[in-house]
Amino acid sequence: MRLFLAPMEGLADQSLRAVLTALSPYDLAVSEFVRVSGALLPQRAFFRISPELQHGGRTRAGTPVQVQLLGSDPLMMARNAARLAQWSPAGVDLNFGCPAATVNRHRGGAVLLDEPETLHAIGVAVRAAMPAGGPVLSAKMRLGVKDTLRAVECAQALADAGVERLVVHARTKLDGYRPPAHWPWVARIAEAVSVPVVANGEVWTVDDWQRCRSESGVADVMLGRGAVVDPFLARDIRAGRAWARNDPRADDWAVLREHIGLFWIEVRARLEARHAPGRLKQWLNLLRRRFGQAEALFQHVRPLRDARQIDRLLALHGIGAPALAA
Ligand SMILES: Cc1cc2nc3c(=O)[nH]c(=O)nc-3n(C[C@H](O)[C@H](O)[C@H](O)COP(=O)(O)O)c2cc1C
Repeated sequence: MRLFLAPMEGLADQSLRAVLTALSPYDLAVSEFVRVSGALLPQRAFFRISPELQHGGRTRAGTPVQVQLLGSDPLMMARNAARLAQWSPAGVDLNFGCPAATVNRHRGGAVLLDEPETLHAIGVAVRAAMPAGGPVLSAKMRLGVKDTLRAVECAQALADAGVERLVVHARTKLDGYRPPAHWPWVARIAEAVSVPVVANGEVWTVDDWQRCRSESGVADVMLGRGAVVDPFLARDIRAGRAWARNDPRADDWAVLREHIGLFWIEVRARLEARHAPGRLKQWLNLLRRRFGQAEALFQHVRPLRDARQIDRLLALHGIGAPALAA
């Protein structure tokens, strides 16, 4: 049984990946997508999305990171995958799940699920361009654009092309992020292909994980938003430990506070001051769903626009390095 951390563009960047993989053991994390259009991308385009490439393709905690590519042109996807493979990421993942209009307008992401032959062509071209024995090639797909009629066909097109692992986000593009995720569809796909299939969608608790495993019949699960809302979820899944919804979990909160401080320090160091507050607010806003203690902190941080005010506030709460408040 393996646990993967999902790619989440605009949410799980390198800073959050570093924290989440330190707080829970993951077998693998996947970066946000690198968008491939008409050009061979420069090194900085890959390193910006996955700075882990400069550290052996791993997060600080040592979790291997796969880099995701999004695009529709087989040749350009192949050329960029070959370039990416030079830096030895833990793997190259192909995105066939993104529902965003701006991405789909350029024939990227989930819209390609109406064209299994394009999925196959991309898979074949990328496979051929990547070195044998090099990074793993995987793909992440939804069940379809508007319906599930071609879900199995899409999965087979990718597996036949030489994709070595498939992550199935068990919803259509039309479903967006609305529950439920249709885990039994993962079982149908897993029966139809000979490569390992990973189930994804709506796993928020240890109970969800158990139901997902039994309904999908697969061993491996990818955690998305649930891992951001509860950074200890993967740890608890491994330990088989479920929490009551209103359990205060004081020990976990004490550890999490420290990591909120580390996250802030890193975000401050990396981003322009005007972009930093939004990142902290975004995470606290999600954490408060699971940690009552995060609610008070969120309410304090919410009105602050200036990063230096947040430095001072966190220092006042004993979170983060005292030097920040100087
Ligand atoms: C903010 C956000 C950004 C996402 N970005 C990506 C992405 O870059 N690539 C991708 O394949 N999926 C992306 N996804 C989809 C997730 O990887 C995952 O499939 C989805 O959230 C379902 O899992 P969950 O219900 O556990 O969150 C994103 C999801 C969210 C919420």
